[in-house]
Order: sequence, then C-alpha cells, then structure tokens
Amino acid sequence: MGPSDLEEIIGDIQSGENPSVLVGPGDDAGVYLLNGTAIVETVDVITPVVNDPFTFGAISANNSLSDVYAMGGMPVSALAIAGFSSCDYEPVVLKEILRGAVHSLNRAGAVLMGGHSFEDSELKFGLSVMGIANKDNILKVSGAEEDDIIIITKPIGIGILATSLKGGKLTDDDMKTAVEWMLTLNDKASELALKAGATACTDVTGFGLLGHAHNMVKGSGVDFEIKKDSVPVLEHVHEMINAGMVSEGAYNNLRFLDGKVEFSSHITDEDRLLLADPQTSGGLLITVKEKGIKVFEDAGIFFSVIGRVIKGSGKIVVR
Ligand code: CO
Ligand code: CO
Repeated sequence: MGPSDLEEIIGDIQSGENPSVLVGPGDDAGVYLLNGTAIVETVDVITPVVNDPFTFGAISANNSLSDVYAMGGMPVSALAIAGFSSCDYEPVVLKEILRGAVHSLNRAGAVLMGGHSFEDSELKFGLSVMGIANKDNILKVSGAEEDDIIIITKPIGIGILATSLKGGKLTDDDMKTAVEWMLTLNDKASELALKAGATACTDVTGFGLLGHAHNMVKGSGVDFEIKKDSVPVLEHVHEMINAGMVSEGAYNNLRFLDGKVEFSSHITDEDRLLLADPQTSGGLLITVKEKGIKVFEDAGIFFSVIGRVIKGSGKIVVR
C-alpha cells in the first residue's frame, strides 16, 4: 500500500473520524487500535520482476511485508492474491510462487492464512499482510523536521534492471545482486528506525525514490535536499539506463513530480529517470536526528545518508 489516487479517493469518500483509526489512507499501511493493540494492515500486488517463480513469490511477499516494516510494525499473518492464466501456466508455477511467499513470511515470523486467485492474462501476485505495532511508536510518512538527516537502506535501480531483463539486455545472473537486495527484509532497518527515534519513514516502491520522498515532504511541511551522488545505485544500472532501458513507470513518476522537484542543472535526464525509477521491495527512506545515525552505524547494516531536511513547504531539491 502507499499514497496513490486510490488512497486519496478512499480518504475522500469516508467522511467522519473513527477514533480507532490511528493511521488512515495515505500512509504505507493503515493502523487500527483494537482492544489496545495497534493492528497494521496493508495490501500490495506486483507483476514478475524475475523469471524464477519461487524467487518471484519470495520477492513479492517481501515487497508486501515491507509496508508493515515501514510503519514500525511486526508482521503476523497474510493472505495471498494471485492473478493467473490457467492456459498459460502449469499449476506447479503457482505452487512455486506460493512456496516462495511462505519462505519469506516464515523469515518474517508471519504465517500464510489463505488466499484468492482469479483468471488474468498477466501474472500477478501479492499479499495482504496484517501486523502489530506499538501504538505509541508508529513510523508515519509525515513528521520529518528541519535539520533531520535523510537515509535510505537499499540501493536503487531495480525497475531499470527488471526492464533490462525483460528486454533481453541482462541475464538472470546479472540480476543476482539486485535479487539479493529484493530478498532482504526491511525488518532490521525498521527496528533500527524505531530505536533511532526516526521522525518519518516510508518504503521505496512504485513511485521511486523521488515519488516517495515527495510523499514525505508533502505531509511534513518541509523540503528535502538530496545529493544525487550520495544515492546508492545497483550495478549495471548506469549502463542499462544509457542503453535506453527505462520503465514506463519512471517516466510517469517524473511527469507526476513536475514542479515538485527542483533539479540542479548538472543533473542529467538519465539521473532524473533513475531517481524516479519504480522499485520492488526497495529500502526504507527514513528521516532521523543527526545523533540517531549512530544507531545505524553501530548495527553495521547497509545505509546511505542521501541528504538533509531543510525549511520549506513540500519541495525536493536535487543537487
Ligand atoms: Co505499498
Ligand atoms: Co509503502
């Protein structure tokens, strides 16, 4: 889940406050207070980014679990959703996808409770995940404050690599590192964000780094200053983008961000597309006080400081 037109519509048509809703539409997940427990709920469905069905299932599950982690929650249970053409695929493919999903869920400590499939010409798979959170320590998409540090916990470029794989420009082997990242859970990053007293947090998925950063500044009433050279990028991405391997999603994201992002003149068109590249199972984008960085350093996990929160009114500046 994440801020989108659909989320906006849901927010609009449901008038009236429900005191049990701690976080409503427009964040990575909804949070509902039930008998004192904060229940985190989300859903996400994706199309294949790799050829192997088991790996696709595992990645899709990670991608869905990520929205629970982006709220500072702990996954508990999940339901599967599969769009599937029974003419095009053997039943064993669906079984492998589900085995992959269960593998990821087990690593996250969550259990698959059931699911639903429907006929679809294009293969789609995802999960609705339920988790729990500490009601007094929920990581929201808004809340970033001036002088906070912006960090990201995975490199970007997955959409470009997936497009290149589909286009026959890269082999499964070239995708190895990217697949490892997509299979990396955001559990540790989420735990550290809570420990570091993060002021805001979201996961980087379909809207790309800039799209999700926009959602953070919009709700926080600040500007982000992002240093392009500090943004970590996966291997092969630069050569693929120069070869024209860019997904439709990156162009759409950039179009949406027109007027919302101010690029320095030295930022090339390729760089802009890369910063708007849709990610699958991307890292967490976190704002934190300078002293909170130590928590991430001490834990020894991968992260990059990509910029700083500055005074403003919802704009992103890329230098
Ligand atoms: Co989402
Ligand atoms: Co999200």
